[in-house]
Amino acid sequence: MIRNTQIFVHDEVQEFHLTNAQVSYIFRVNDQGKLLHLYYGAAVADRDDFGYLVEMQRRTTAACPIDGNHSYSLEHLRQEFPEYGTSDYRMPAVSIAQGNGSRITDFKFAGYRVEAGKPALADLPASYVDSADEAQTLSIGLVDDLTGATVTLLYTIFADIPVIARSVRVTNAGTEPLDIKRLMSLSVDLPDDDYVSTQLTGSWARERSIIRHHLHPGIQQIGSLRGSASGHVHNPAIALARPDANERQGDVIGAAFVYSGNFEAHVEVDSFSVSRVQMGIADHGFTWHLEPGESFQSPEAILAFSQQGYNGMSQAFHDLVRRHVLRGPWRDKERPILINNWEATYFNFDEDKLIAIASKAKEAGVELFVLDDGWFGQRNGDTAGLGDWTPNAERLPDGMNGLAERINDMGMMFGLWFEPEMVNKDSDMYRNHPEWALNTPGRHMSQSRNQYVLNFANQEVVDNVFEQMAKVLSSANISYIKWDMNRYITEAYDASRGVKHQGEVFHRYILGMYQLNARLLEAFPDLIIEGCASGGGRFDLGMLCYSPQIWTSDDTDAVERMSIQYGTSMFYPLSSMGSHVSIVPNHQTNRVTTLTTRSNVAMFGTFGYELDLAKLSDEEFREVRHDVAFFKQYREVIHTGDFYRLLSPFESDPRDSGKMAWMVVSQDKHTAIVGDYALLQHPMSPFSRLYLQGLDSEAQYEVSVFGGASSIAGMEFSGDELMHVGMIDSDASTGSSSGEVSDANDLGESHDFDSRLFVLNAR
Ligand code: DGJ
Repeated sequence: MIRNTQIFVHDEVQEFHLTNAQVSYIFRVNDQGKLLHLYYGAAVADRDDFGYLVEMQRRTTAACPIDGNHSYSLEHLRQEFPEYGTSDYRMPAVSIAQGNGSRITDFKFAGYRVEAGKPALADLPASYVDSADEAQTLSIGLVDDLTGATVTLLYTIFADIPVIARSVRVTNAGTEPLDIKRLMSLSVDLPDDDYVSTQLTGSWARERSIIRHHLHPGIQQIGSLRGSASGHVHNPAIALARPDANERQGDVIGAAFVYSGNFEAHVEVDSFSVSRVQMGIADHGFTWHLEPGESFQSPEAILAFSQQGYNGMSQAFHDLVRRHVLRGPWRDKERPILINNWEATYFNFDEDKLIAIASKAKEAGVELFVLDDGWFGQRNGDTAGLGDWTPNAERLPDGMNGLAERINDMGMMFGLWFEPEMVNKDSDMYRNHPEWALNTPGRHMSQSRNQYVLNFANQEVVDNVFEQMAKVLSSANISYIKWDMNRYITEAYDASRGVKHQGEVFHRYILGMYQLNARLLEAFPDLIIEGCASGGGRFDLGMLCYSPQIWTSDDTDAVERMSIQYGTSMFYPLSSMGSHVSIVPNHQTNRVTTLTTRSNVAMFGTFGYELDLAKLSDEEFREVRHDVAFFKQYREVIHTGDFYRLLSPFESDPRDSGKMAWMVVSQDKHTAIVGDYALLQHPMSPFSRLYLQGLDSEAQYEVSVFGGASSIAGMEFSGDELMHVGMIDSDASTGSSSGEVSDANDLGESHDFDSRLFVLNAR
């Protein structure tokens, strides 16, 4: 037996146990060379042989690959890399079409390797480590004798977070071409089906609502076939929790995909209550052609496990993202507070108008001015210009550098919007290269927002867009780009490749998009790329490898944002969520909320503004200055602290007006900020308390209130009291109505959508 810090290998019984102080993941090779899954969950002590976990029973009707052994059927074994057609009838992890039309394979164990650290994945973004002692990686080799195909399964366990990263590489080591039809990055067979599944589902402007259901027999699946993005509809992440789990306690498994294109994530519950969890590139329309000697690398899937409920699982993902997914200088640097002109001007701007917006923002303490859509080509609306990345001389008479210098001279950083993957028919790019737009020969080309998707599977296209962007970025001092992507793919066809490669177009598109991100960051390493896809249509771990922050939603309404940011926090940290204060009535909902509430919501994210601050009253502007100063003081806590969801807007009780609350605690537990939000006021509201989390039980915290009022302002409480007795949340200062609104009753203005922040400082 070789003992490693985190990976135990028992050669005598061919068993592998990946563990750190928090999780264990155990599987073994059986005498047929098949990988059998044994356990995934809370860390357990190692033992020489976990073979008792292989349960074999005679099942009438089972197909048995070993003649005479009626108890051995793959259908009834829990596996690591299942195949279809050799006695398992559930969804396989792999399917490879061969020259004779067969898709049967029989991959068998061929060896393993344990190494310190974590290898990079060819051409794909993936989690990484800074030093070899932060993780260990187990590679398992498999071979299919008949075709000569080989498989490498990678398992990386991180040293101090409860996370395992997995991926698969297939190599055609045979002599005939092969076509991969399906390849899951992750497949694990859990021994029962007593789980509540969580998915983040929505649409444009309503991204990532938390949807839950108990697992049921059969396949339950989410995914995307939208080509250019993981999409607004289903986020590429799921959680499986024991039914008694909640935000504070209980076992929760999370799985998230480091990928931004077509995906599927499913759980198949069989008739013996085994739950097969799989995540990978969607197989619909997918074929990857492999000539002898060629390989295909799957994207990475991340597994996290927590015994501390959903918050514990989320914190595992947040830690992973902040330490092993985000990269470059902005991983650890404080992000600038920005102002974006989109909702302030849309396409209706000239340089002086932009300067006026920027200078008012500078007065408030804002650090970065972002020029959104409309600065290039003939982009005077959304029907023209995409593809022509040269500054529009009418709007910017002194070019990009002229504007950037004026912004820089004010002491602000300058940022610029791009939509690199798109083209309008009304553009020089399309007029010169109509063949660069994705389209199937002889078919109509469907449009969306008057635009078409460029074939990023074609290297020539990626090179052209890179050169255009690099020219702009070199022409001025540009610190930030907002990388937008506003439509999904239709009539997909890669005109730059032959028939055998048409099943590759969606994945090659995503590889081209990743490559452009990587090349830009290589050429301009200090750039912040903020991801965006019609708001939050491409919010995934793949994009976070390039973008430290992603625009969370085009819906900037504070009440809507409570749900959107709450749902997003399930897998993604606050420092990744683009969040801005915008004007009222809100442009998406027409709702009016106070500036205080808009700010109190946006502060649980990257924080910025998306309006002309000159349109605010003097009093409101003073508040903005105050908010900006507050955020600067606490942004490190907000972006690096542990985040806890306290009250869900998805489950709020109508009797208590519909409440939402969350909090963040600094790593040293000295400071915490609690966001406390009400939706609609009802008369005669019940009493309520917030039971805080993550504090130092013995510390004494002084409470101050920012934005809003509370009768406990100025009081001191121990961490224990705040977590167990609770923090009083239903005092009269919240404007709770007795049902009699009259002059004698000092309710003031309506208190719908009220909010306040509590700041707790340990003495
Ligand atoms: C969609 C984005 O989500 C918006 O923020 C804005 O940048 C527009 N595109 C511009 O066209």
